[in-house]
Amino acid sequence: MIPIKYILFLVSGVSSFIIFYMGLVNYITAIDGVTGIILLIFATAVSAGTLLSTTYISKSITKPIEKLAENMTEFSKTNKIINKKPINTNIKEIYELNTNFESMGKKVEETISMQNEYVEKLKHIDKKKVEFSSMVSHELKTPLVPILGYVQMLQKQELMGPLNNQQLDAINEIYSSALKLQKLVGDILTTQKLDLGKLVFNNENIQISEFLDLIIKDFTPITHLKKIQLVKEYDANDMLFSDRDRINQVFSNLIKNSIDFVVPETGQIIIGAKLDNQSMQFFVKDNGVGISMDNQKEIFKKFYQIDTSTSRKRDGSGLGLAICKGIIEGLGGKIWVESKENIGTTFYFTIPIHSMSK
Ligand SMILES: Nc1ncnc2c1ncn2[C@@H]1O[C@H](COP(=O)(O)OP(=O)(O)OP(=O)(O)O)[C@@H](O)[C@H]1O
Ligand SMILES: [Mg+2]
Repeated sequence: MIPIKYILFLVSGVSSFIIFYMGLVNYITAIDGVTGIILLIFATAVSAGTLLSTTYISKSITKPIEKLAENMTEFSKTNKIINKKPINTNIKEIYELNTNFESMGKKVEETISMQNEYVEKLKHIDKKKVEFSSMVSHELKTPLVPILGYVQMLQKQELMGPLNNQQLDAINEIYSSALKLQKLVGDILTTQKLDLGKLVFNNENIQISEFLDLIIKDFTPITHLKKIQLVKEYDANDMLFSDRDRINQVFSNLIKNSIDFVVPETGQIIIGAKLDNQSMQFFVKDNGVGISMDNQKEIFKKFYQIDTSTSRKRDGSGLGLAICKGIIEGLGGKIWVESKENIGTTFYFTIPIHSMSK
């Protein structure tokens, strides 16, 4: 970009030179010496006048415009009008431009400071809210321990006496509802810890092949029951230094989702891994109902559940994938989904081979 004053001086310099040059040519070629001198003096005066008026214009127009431009640039960087350079001008338009800029700047400054105040207040309220719900979740968790303990004792019957079928059904219902409540409370607490950056990771060496085998073993009772195939697609011998329990929790959430969305008998879930540079890329692939493009963008948000007749039949709170995302990011990796409706879904996630998380 060329500054306006250079253009002004270039134009006036060239014009002054042409005028002076024409005067000089007239003086040299004039037959009458007096006329030549008069023309030369006239040309010199006009040329000097042009230069002087350019200097004046530069001082009264271009200088204030330059300062205004500097002030605006400074303002756009700092959002502050305090450090601006003073502008003295007699030109009406520049004066108005500067006054309007100043009042606009002050308004923006005030709005920004108000906005910052609101953000601080909101942060404070949010912190109080998280602390409160954290306290409530803890208080809910504690009574669940004796409830589950006594229900299990009642179920065994030999400890607290026999139950008739109706009583046993009722106890079994209490047990499964208490377990759901325990999961929900646990998920809320994990989400809060992730939000506050307080989830602690314990890293250890993980032999990937064995780890995947154990995951499959944990799910065997339910996959057998639902006649769903759960298989491993991995034949390397890689190791990973990361948090075994948290990665297990991620696999568990993803596999539970897949189990809910595949068709019994034909349902197939494949879990696996491959080394990708300095990361291990894991996946959970199913041939279930799939997820539409629009929903793929939303499912990692807290409490988001796709509202279809299939998903409404399921339990759950919509925290599973948000927790997976929080854990994976906490471990320094990424999680994403690829899916086609009525074909199936694959969740991928990466974990650095040597996780630096604490
Ligand atoms: N493999 C999948 N196939 C089809 N839809 C899926 C799959 N995994 C997740 N979804 C959709 O994404 C939504 C969010 O999943 P998420 O695991 O976060 O919650 P949830 O399973 O409903 O509840 P929660 O995991 O907290 O018990 C689900 O409700 C479901 O509609
Ligand atoms: Mg889930």
